Amino acid sequence: MKKKSSSISNLINKFEINLHDDKKNNELYKALRQLVTILFAVVLGVGLSQLAPFIHTSFWGANAFALYIAYLTVLLSWYGYHFGVIEGPAETNLLNYIIDCFLLITYWLLINDRTPFSDELVWLATMFILYIAWESIRCFQENTNSYKEQIKKAILVNAIFALIILVASLLFKETDIWWHIVLIGIILVYYRIIIYRVYLPPYKTKSLESDDENEIETILIKKAKAIATNALINISQFPVGAAIRSSNGKIYVGCNIEFDNLTNTIHAEESAICSMITDGEKCPTHIAVYTSSDILWFPCGLCRQSLFELGGNDLKVIACNDSKHKVKKIGEILPEGFRL
Ligand code: THU
Ligand code: ZN
Repeated sequence: MKKKSSSISNLINKFEINLHDDKKNNELYKALRQLVTILFAVVLGVGLSQLAPFIHTSFWGANAFALYIAYLTVLLSWYGYHFGVIEGPAETNLLNYIIDCFLLITYWLLINDRTPFSDELVWLATMFILYIAWESIRCFQENTNSYKEQIKKAILVNAIFALIILVASLLFKETDIWWHIVLIGIILVYYRIIIYRVYLPPYKTKSLESDDENEIETILIKKAKAIATNALINISQFPVGAAIRSSNGKIYVGCNIEFDNLTNTIHAEESAICSMITDGEKCPTHIAVYTSSDILWFPCGLCRQSLFELGGNDLKVIACNDSKHKVKKIGEILPEGFRL
């Protein structure tokens, strides 16, 4: 099984666009993305010329609404593509661009092919299937685990929606077109909400409303673990992630960052503290520190001192790894801490 997937990876990697110069590569990827964005805009522009006659003649008609929804679908996809709801490495593979071309054709057909409504459902299902193909290629190229998980979720969501649309196109063939429109409208709005949540990186700063200790611990642990995948650890190969909760319930994350001169290392706790202070928060109440090691590591001496100065003896420190966690107060792990 493992062998099979690596041979697929090898095949996909053959389509990598590579000029063997990082700077040139970046420029090329950027240009390609812009080209797709422009082609998208062309489809939307031509779509507008389709919308115009409807607005004049049958603004409230069923066909007009079918077109509005098709147009909205393409507009939201363009928004997602252009403003990069998707984070992670830029698309660097020719296969992704080939799929983009098919997607653009599908968008074109969605807006411009004013055939019976059941065909429109087929175009929508095609769109979801192309999304699955696009994400699958990305999944084989991606090395970061948290992104891999995210991509797998996105594939699942797209597969479910493709299926719903296909089944709907079979079941509702005879029903009133208005039902189709309402159904598709709801499905597409729902899809956008779900997919937005899937693509939101798990460590994105967010506030935590709850005061429940268990919930705070669970969420901090999850975020500390997720951010550890961003650690820059060329020297130690030892990823550390930290998530701090401030007294206002806001969450800040950080990971360790290593530099070649061996002196400038920034600890995960320090990087999380920096995000907190820069955001104007001063009082941490909890910090979770994740390492992938079997041993549960609490922060180093220097970080204990910084945390004590900001949060006092009662600051809770949660040391965690993939399977367990342990909670201690900073006063326990740094007794008689120094203060001016
Ligand atoms: N590290 C932390 O991020 N926090 C600690 O409290 C201990 C050590 C990092 C620094 C370095 O990048 C790696 O772990 C190995 O020491
Ligand atoms: Zn430290």
